[in-house]
Amino acid sequence: LWQDVPLAPPDSIFKLTAAYKVDPYPKKVNLGVGAYRDDDSKPWVLPVVKKATAKLLNDDTLDHEYLPILGLPEYTVAAAKLILGPESPALKEERAVSVQTISGTGANHLGALFLARFYKFNGPARIYLSNPTWANHRAIFRNVGIEPAEYPYYDPKTIGLDFDGFIGSLKDAPSRSAFLLHACAHNPTGVDPTPEQWDAIADVMLEKQHYAFFDCAYQGFASGDLDKDAWAVRRFVDRGVALLVCQSFAKNAGLYGERVGALHVVSGDKSTAERVRSQLSVLQRSEISNPPAHGARLVSLILNDPTLFAEWKQDIQTMSGRIIAMRKELYRLLTEEYKTPGNWDHILNQIGMFSFTGLNPEQAKAMVERAHVYMTGNGRISMAGLNSHNVSYFAESLDKVVRG
Ligand code: LMR
Repeated sequence: LWQDVPLAPPDSIFKLTAAYKVDPYPKKVNLGVGAYRDDDSKPWVLPVVKKATAKLLNDDTLDHEYLPILGLPEYTVAAAKLILGPESPALKEERAVSVQTISGTGANHLGALFLARFYKFNGPARIYLSNPTWANHRAIFRNVGIEPAEYPYYDPKTIGLDFDGFIGSLKDAPSRSAFLLHACAHNPTGVDPTPEQWDAIADVMLEKQHYAFFDCAYQGFASGDLDKDAWAVRRFVDRGVALLVCQSFAKNAGLYGERVGALHVVSGDKSTAERVRSQLSVLQRSEISNPPAHGARLVSLILNDPTLFAEWKQDIQTMSGRIIAMRKELYRLLTEEYKTPGNWDHILNQIGMFSFTGLNPEQAKAMVERAHVYMTGNGRISMAGLNSHNVSYFAESLDKVVRG
């Protein structure tokens, strides 16, 4: 039995973490996985999460019963307000359905499964993904029978957005196509559309009746401002683009292992939303029955308590501020200290956890093999892995690799 099972390759992102851990080289740097580290390369437990955890530990009313199938209501309601905005017409008109999910991956999966079951594709079931995109998107959609297609996104010549290619693809796709959009801090490029460009994208989506499948894993990480990073999603809701949003608290609350996320499906009216809710409940039941309680309770405390919420915003600023400081320092080192050939403006212009360095696969491989700097083969680095102790070594290694 199972003799015909082919050997699968290791995950392109998590294999880097495993290799980094066993590497004895003292100056090794892990810029692979998108996980925040403090200035000493250590995972950071947000102070507000520590406070919320202490509150939970002292709460004698809590037990280990099942949560409702769609999740902890006070969590899903607050999570919806956070991403859609408290004044969202979708919330006021009760036409958004929110489901607690196994982090952002679970939200993507449940959203994909819902589309596979109920979306009226114009032709074969297909999702348009940005080229490039998060490595896991393809597998998530394939798993539910939706074939991934690509739309141009990143222009290697400008190390920026291929806006014309993107718009062209929206126009050329059959009407009612589904497009996956990164709400902010695009993974892996760190290149986001401007507000004007988002509006132009919405124009075509409305004209062609496309579906916007938003993935929002980095709210707060792009600008340090939760509202600003939700701008595109809110704008699309206001403009009436049909959409859903996948949300994760892995990065912005540092709750990677708790798997706390949500899927929000916005419908045209309340009675449609009720039917959507009923079907999401059926799907969730067969997939995971009930979502896990601990992370949702933590996030619920933080979102619903004004003092904790204010503290969380401070913690987000600490993380995004450190990342922005690293961008500035890396830029300074490359342009002033090492005078590395090429233009490095993109290090400053890109947003969020990641930077697309522009290194080609051979150069990225050389960074891993020669310099013990772990980064993905597409040239992506997690800026959160840089700190005041290793940024200089990283810049020096990059400079050597670029010079060949
Ligand atoms: C990443 O892109 O590194 C993160 O989103 C972690 C993951 O699940 O891949």
